[in-house]
Amino acid sequence: MVNSKMGSTSEPIISLKNISRRFSRTAAVDHLSLDIEKGEILGIIGRSGAGKSTLIRCLNGLERIDEGQIFFEGHDVSHLSESEWAPYRQRISMIFQHFNLLSSKRVIDNIALPLKLAGVPKEKRRERAMELIELVSLKGKELHFPAELSGGQKQRVGIARALAANPKVLLSDEATSALDPETTQSILELIADINKRLNLTVVLITHEMEVVSSIANRVVVLNKGKIVEEGRVRDIFASPQDDTTIAMLRIVTPQLPAEFAKRLKPEGDEAVIELNIAGDVAREPFLHLIEYESGLIPRILHGGIDTIQGEPVGRFFLGLPAKDKDKLDKAVSWLIKHGRYCEVLGYV
Ligand SMILES: Nc1ncnc2c1ncn2[C@@H]1O[C@H](COP(=O)(O)OP(=O)(O)O)[C@@H](O)[C@H]1O
Ligand SMILES: [Mg+2]
Repeated sequence: MVNSKMGSTSEPIISLKNISRRFSRTAAVDHLSLDIEKGEILGIIGRSGAGKSTLIRCLNGLERIDEGQIFFEGHDVSHLSESEWAPYRQRISMIFQHFNLLSSKRVIDNIALPLKLAGVPKEKRRERAMELIELVSLKGKELHFPAELSGGQKQRVGIARALAANPKVLLSDEATSALDPETTQSILELIADINKRLNLTVVLITHEMEVVSSIANRVVVLNKGKIVEEGRVRDIFASPQDDTTIAMLRIVTPQLPAEFAKRLKPEGDEAVIELNIAGDVAREPFLHLIEYESGLIPRILHGGIDTIQGEPVGRFFLGLPAKDKDKLDKAVSWLIKHGRYCEVLGYV
């Protein structure tokens, strides 16, 4: 590969320009543009059928695009033949939901397989495979067969194999979806560790918001093949804008308990307020600040604060006495000013 551009640090490692991939009448990826930055962990989320797998397969040439352009480190790779893709595919490797290991091969041979295909001599392959076994904490398992491993261990083999040829980008298609929550967390920690240690760019697609909130720096929300929302994970979690994102976040964020929702009226003694807060305000005793500002003492109906990417992100349902309209207005104005999102849902 010829490096035609001087290595400016701001150049995206992968750049998608207006790409589309259609299956008969469905546009699985629909005029999508996206820059993937070197060294980032990018989460791509969306419901089933949103086009996530198609998109990630376009990134390593497993899926051809009908329209647009794909650049890898500044090189146009949009319309390469299968053989021209080969060197790039070592640079952009992938892990899968069902691991895709060869059941007849031992752990060490599964890991060394990409090196064998690349013509690396046996002794070198062994050496590299042993390094990787160490890296993914599978020491002692090198001679086992996949059937003798747990799901988490199988995925560690998948990760080691993906790293064998020193890729620059690791693509993950629902790599933790078949794992239990605890194992998911340990695999995510491994991916985050590899990202830091090897400065590897990671693109992970998932339908699980927890995966994104625990390791991604940036998130892209996909719906019907288009990007509907994009930004830093903590910003998106603090104030999602698109309906798809809001719906997906609903599973992991507090919702107004049904007994309150049922009782909401246009007027009443207590205002029920939905509040999202993040960053500095969420570090402060903000309930006390509301009281200081308005003279009203809020009560928490439901909610709490989470830490996402080291930043506090809170979501609350508050009850505020509504008899004194002036005071209520003061409290709500304060919340609108300092919160990420504030809405008076109704009264009880
Ligand atoms: N090989 C294919 N042939 C026909 N339609 C496909 C094919 N792959 C994906 N699709 C369609 O493209 C859309 C996006 O699918 P996919 O990329 O698998 O979404 P996701 O991974 O987000 O669930 C769906 O409507 C799906 O039915
Ligand atoms: Mg998929």
